[in-house]
Amino acid sequence: MAYNLLKGKKGIIFGALDDKSIAWKVAEKSYDEGAIFTLTNTPAAMRFGEIDQLAKKCNASVIPADATSIADLENLVSKSMEILGGKIDFILHSIGMSMNVRKKRVYNDLHYDFFQKTLDISALSFHKLLQTCYKLDAISEWGSVVALSYIASQRTLYGYNDMADAKALLESISRSFGYIYGREKRIRVNTISQSPTLTTAGSGVKGIDGLMDFTERMSPLGNATAEECADFTIVMFSDLSKKVTMQNIYHDGGFSSMGMSLKAMRMYTRSLDCEECPPVD
Ligand SMILES: NC(=O)c1ccc[n+]([C@@H]2O[C@H](COP(=O)([O-])OP(=O)(O)OC[C@H]3O[C@@H](n4cnc5c(N)ncnc54)[C@H](O)[C@@H]3O)[C@@H](O)[C@H]2O)c1
Repeated sequence: MAYNLLKGKKGIIFGALDDKSIAWKVAEKSYDEGAIFTLTNTPAAMRFGEIDQLAKKCNASVIPADATSIADLENLVSKSMEILGGKIDFILHSIGMSMNVRKKRVYNDLHYDFFQKTLDISALSFHKLLQTCYKLDAISEWGSVVALSYIASQRTLYGYNDMADAKALLESISRSFGYIYGREKRIRVNTISQSPTLTTAGSGVKGIDGLMDFTERMSPLGNATAEECADFTIVMFSDLSKKVTMQNIYHDGGFSSMGMSLKAMRMYTRSLDCEECPPVD
């Protein structure tokens, strides 16, 4: 059901690769809620992904940009203002990538060039985006910028690797820039910390199936889906969340506040009884 929450608002949405992407669901819902927006991703992702289908469906223009390139970001932001006819009201940063994860380099054997790339793509790109918009004075008063994060930024979760450090930096950038933007321009900057979700990026996380089963059992409301994340993101873009800024908001069915649940305890007890448990690496 649509509520016209974004009627007349203009946006930029990063990170829609295919119909499993969280950004894809955000774009569909933004369109349903009355927004106009541009879509962006890397040229490579555009070749392998399905962004053109989404653009058609949402009547949106696609502007290629590598989010680590200031020149690309300047072009994206200026062109978006031109196409949409004014300043931007909402931005979604839905970007994450680690070559260490892809190449299965573990945290105590990281490749440092890969590590720097992880930080650049998954965290510094958010600062570059915010700074580019700031210099171009591209975001409207009471505008809302959201980046997607994960709880491994604050708690250690096996296998999340250097992405944990990137998410910690991302959340910190959100607070630091959120202060400046709030003080000077009444613009909001937040991160949403989402449950593990089966997307292309999510599938790369070591042991994602076991992790999702665990968080499902631990969360009183169960894991949040990509679609539910999109619903919440719309609220964060809308005027209904005007005084929320510099926050990392958990959208995880309650997982972040749990220690042990009945469902997880039952599973753990059962595995203790198991005589042929697989070895742990
Ligand atoms: N899937 C999960 O379990 C989960 C949980 C919490 C948070 N998140 C976060 O949600 C966000 C979206 O991920 P997703 O799960 O929808 O996966 P996804 O793979 O669909 O999206 C990741 C996107 O990042 C884009 N990207 C990579 N490098 C880029 C660059 N240099 N410039 C611009 N774009 C680039 C990719 O092309 C892709 O579209 C990420 O920040 C991710 O860390 C995901």
